[in-house]
Amino acid sequence: MEMREQWRSRWGFVLAAAGSAVGLGNLWGFAYRASEGGGAAFLLLYILIVLVVCLPVLVSEMVLGRGTSSSALVAPVKAAGSKWSWMGWLFVIAPLGIGSYYAVLMGWTLDTFLHSLFFALPANTAEAETFFGSISTGSSVLLGQLISLLLTASVVSAGVRGGIERMSKWGVPILFTLLIVLALWAATLTGTWEGYRTFLFKIDISEFFNPSTIRNAFTQAFFSLSLGIGIMIAYSSYLDRKKQLPKEALAVASIDTAVGLLAGMITFPIVMSFGLKEVITGSTVGTLFISLPTGLGTLGLTGRIVAVLFFALAYIAAITSSISLLEVPVSSLMDKFAWSRSKAVFVSTSLLFILGIPSALSLDFLGKVDSIFGGVLLIFGGFMLAIFLGWVVPRKFDEDLASSNSNLSVRRYLKFMLRWVSPPVIAFGLIVSVIDLFQSWSS
Ligand code: TRP
Repeated sequence: MEMREQWRSRWGFVLAAAGSAVGLGNLWGFAYRASEGGGAAFLLLYILIVLVVCLPVLVSEMVLGRGTSSSALVAPVKAAGSKWSWMGWLFVIAPLGIGSYYAVLMGWTLDTFLHSLFFALPANTAEAETFFGSISTGSSVLLGQLISLLLTASVVSAGVRGGIERMSKWGVPILFTLLIVLALWAATLTGTWEGYRTFLFKIDISEFFNPSTIRNAFTQAFFSLSLGIGIMIAYSSYLDRKKQLPKEALAVASIDTAVGLLAGMITFPIVMSFGLKEVITGSTVGTLFISLPTGLGTLGLTGRIVAVLFFALAYIAAITSSISLLEVPVSSLMDKFAWSRSKAVFVSTSLLFILGIPSALSLDFLGKVDSIFGGVLLIFGGFMLAIFLGWVVPRKFDEDLASSNSNLSVRRYLKFMLRWVSPPVIAFGLIVSVIDLFQSWSS
């Protein structure tokens, strides 16, 4: 048997996992979910969910991947027998579902980047809407989607070290630096405080009980951490035994949350200083592609430079995420059918392209696929992982953390949360989210 590949260094793994986590979900998702009315309640719930339920689940995914040294498809079966094979399939189908429309969003990002670089920013909202209309329909959207998939495939086919690790190692630090520069710049705008206040600090107690805010917070926490559907299983299967997983998980979650906040500190001031609040409220992802370029368009050359940098960094962030979405089916096919990496990449990429066509052609369809695959299914996956490692194979969890010498109180804390806190809290989030989703569809 061939030796399984391993990450070259500790930072290689952390940056790749953080690269998967940090993506369009932080840059667009955080902004539009935060602007849907939840304000500070959304933010607090989101942070609480990350700390209380997501961290233990993140460690679980890592334990499962490293403990079995297998892809997401095979890992549950290896750990607990063939009656868990359905969970493996869930972990393959869900990334395919997300990857299919993720490439469409990447295509829009690429188009907007190229347009800001070579042409001009829109002069007003109407112009921006026309532009967004042109990139989100017809053949141009399919082209953007295809190019993004091919770029993703080229990284993944270069392998774990040569492709994924190398891409993340330069991509993540660059995008972090750019984000800090842009957040500092945004702090100098006239609408800055207004922006922070309206979207991030507006405290309204009733929002804590609003089902849509709860669904937004759960979805954002799981989506943004790439959690619940085997991404971290796949990445951790290339880890050696020495790493202390709780530490790695904390590093990934901290980078991811910091990026979400930084992105909010860029988008909200821009939107507020140019009186674009109406454009963004009650929005979908698409509206951000309209309001941001319009806001920046009023700032002349500076605005254009900022737009080019922001969309470039968004694209880098998106690639380091989409490679993780592709790696899950690729590693699963390699494991299960002993396919070569290039064959698995070719088949999975073709599948992603075909599955993404309906999302490319209909914004409404894209929104629905996102709510199912990028929302409730992730939360369900997170619930199953907590049950699986907390109750079905709890010894695996203990032994793994003990063998890598993780701190005893950290281990006790994680174990307790995983068994007693994560399952009921996630189940609650799941039920509220499903009901809220059906209500939003029927209204
Ligand atoms: N977390 C990424 C983002 O924020 C997207 C992503 C990559 C993802 N892999 C995932 C989301 C797995 C859910 C599950 O954009």
